[in-house]
Amino acid sequence: MAEFSLPKNSKVQQGRHFPATGATRTRTFKVYRWNPDDGRNPSTDTYEVDLDKCGPMVLDALIKIKNEIDPTLAFRRSCREGICGSCAMNIDGTNTLACTRAIEDCKKAEVPIYPLPHMEVVKDLVPDLTHFYAQYASIQPWIRTQSAPPPDRERLQSKEDRAKLDGLYECILCACCSTSCPSYWWNGERYLGPAVLLQAYRWIIDSRDEDTGARLDDLEDPFKLYRCHTIMNCARTCPKGLNPARAIGEIKQLMLARRG
Ligand code: SF4
Ligand code: F3S
Ligand code: FES
Repeated sequence: MAEFSLPKNSKVQQGRHFPATGATRTRTFKVYRWNPDDGRNPSTDTYEVDLDKCGPMVLDALIKIKNEIDPTLAFRRSCREGICGSCAMNIDGTNTLACTRAIEDCKKAEVPIYPLPHMEVVKDLVPDLTHFYAQYASIQPWIRTQSAPPPDRERLQSKEDRAKLDGLYECILCACCSTSCPSYWWNGERYLGPAVLLQAYRWIIDSRDEDTGARLDDLEDPFKLYRCHTIMNCARTCPKGLNPARAIGEIKQLMLARRG
């Protein structure tokens, strides 16, 4: 699994403790807290959650904490079924989705919950993904064409060409992989990282896209692509079971092939 690593503002102190009074079956969560407005160092607050009155997933525990114990806790979530990517965080030492990680699968007695590693923090468990999204926009994630579209229908694709998108289109841009990648930690300003490179490959191999050469030209750069050193944390941590390292390898192969 991905290496656990603290977020950038990481002088973490012991915070408050919220016991689950009267509960018989509990689980304890140690949750990273940081508020940019109160001038204090980050801390971890400890929450005991009554499992008999909580859903099965870590996100259920966070929602219960926010609704019933401590409304100041900030985190992102939307779909609650592993589709929107917004609840990505570091749980029990691994980057994953809070809505698909079962509480009973967490190993540590006090389950640590931190924001995605090595990112600036907006508040508590909310990472600042501004740069990540700008990098995603930089690969122009849409079909680019020069030819006129067919007059009476959409641009078609064979079943075989469509199958080339399997293992890529499922990416939900949660950033678990990029924030588990040491190369991205160290060079994230210029290295695009596994999530964005997987997305870049998704458009490079789309049979309907007509800008493959220009897309490869854009990635022909010592930092954007070649800072991947096959560390493989990305593939180990992806909560959708995808393999960004393979996609990066395919791009490198295409680069080699066109050099002749
Ligand atoms: Fe998230 Fe996996 Fe996509 Fe990376 S490849 S952004 S871990 S879904
Ligand atoms: Fe990083 Fe994955 Fe490459 S962890 S170095 S992007 S194989
Ligand atoms: Fe949408 Fe978890 S809430 S992926």
